[in-house]
Amino acid sequence: MAASVRKAVFPVGGLGTRFLPVTKALPKEMLPIVDKPLIHYAVEEARAAGIEEFIFVTGKGKSAIEDHFDHSSELEALLRSRGKEEAAESLSRWLPAPGKVAYTRQQEPLGLGHAVWCARHFIGDEPFAVLLPDDVFLAAVPCLKQMVDAYSGRGGMVAAETITGADISNYGVLDVSDDNGAVVSVRGLVEKPKPEDAPSNLAVVGRYIMTPKVFDYLDRQETGAGGEIQLTDALSWLATEEEFAGIRIEGERFDCGKRTGYLRANIAFALQRDDMRDDLTSYIRSLGIGA
Ligand code: UTP
Repeated sequence: MAASVRKAVFPVGGLGTRFLPVTKALPKEMLPIVDKPLIHYAVEEARAAGIEEFIFVTGKGKSAIEDHFDHSSELEALLRSRGKEEAAESLSRWLPAPGKVAYTRQQEPLGLGHAVWCARHFIGDEPFAVLLPDDVFLAAVPCLKQMVDAYSGRGGMVAAETITGADISNYGVLDVSDDNGAVVSVRGLVEKPKPEDAPSNLAVVGRYIMTPKVFDYLDRQETGAGGEIQLTDALSWLATEEEFAGIRIEGERFDCGKRTGYLRANIAFALQRDDMRDDLTSYIRSLGIGA
């Protein structure tokens, strides 16, 4: 039975150091996949899952994100004056409704757990989603929708992906108590374990549903791996307090927080586009790679 998850938090306060120098003056979340910024895909996905309120946790130098989700009156007027009505219209069609978007600022990037904690006053007493814009999904059913459809209405849920080999050490990993196929019951999470210490091969990827109980843990402001306030630690605690599930996501995920993942996403999304597929395919063939 699908439960209502109405609010989503988008943590966008990080430094994006793996993409320097482009992220010196441009927020990582504004890097484009083809012609839409990463954050745009995350907001579209949230909307497709029924999210009504959008809460951004921003930081220094991130004002381009606010501008992206606002009217650009001058540009729209200019386009209209040139007869480009459809182009002007297409710029505002996807904007969140007035009063349905909120921005709060993480004054220092102290970690993902801290970023989510900064949104606490916007949440109230209801489960909410968290979407990390650097994980982008190509999926028949959008990732968060898969989660919301499977969510029981109680406790927490994370998106999970099977990771083979030593790569598991780059993720938060699920300690599974019961495997029911698509959905698993979780008793804990471990952040970036050594491959031999990983409790399973199921890694957490950047979509979450959690209850406000998570703030009881985050209020303590405890630091974890890398000296950061880790969301994984808070969720691991939450899994001991309430029902907690992982769901194997159907579809392909691109880790756009790293450069090769970002480039892969650009190719994959461009190949989905009728206006780009032929040109790009013939270019890739001309490279003769793997021939
Ligand atoms: P990452 O850890 O991948 O982003 O966080 P980062 O720290 O910006 O990137 P690198 O590792 O230095 O290259 C995933 C998401 O969480 C946000 C980021 O903005 C990104 O959207 N985040 C991370 C915060 O909002 N605050 C933080 O303190 C850390």
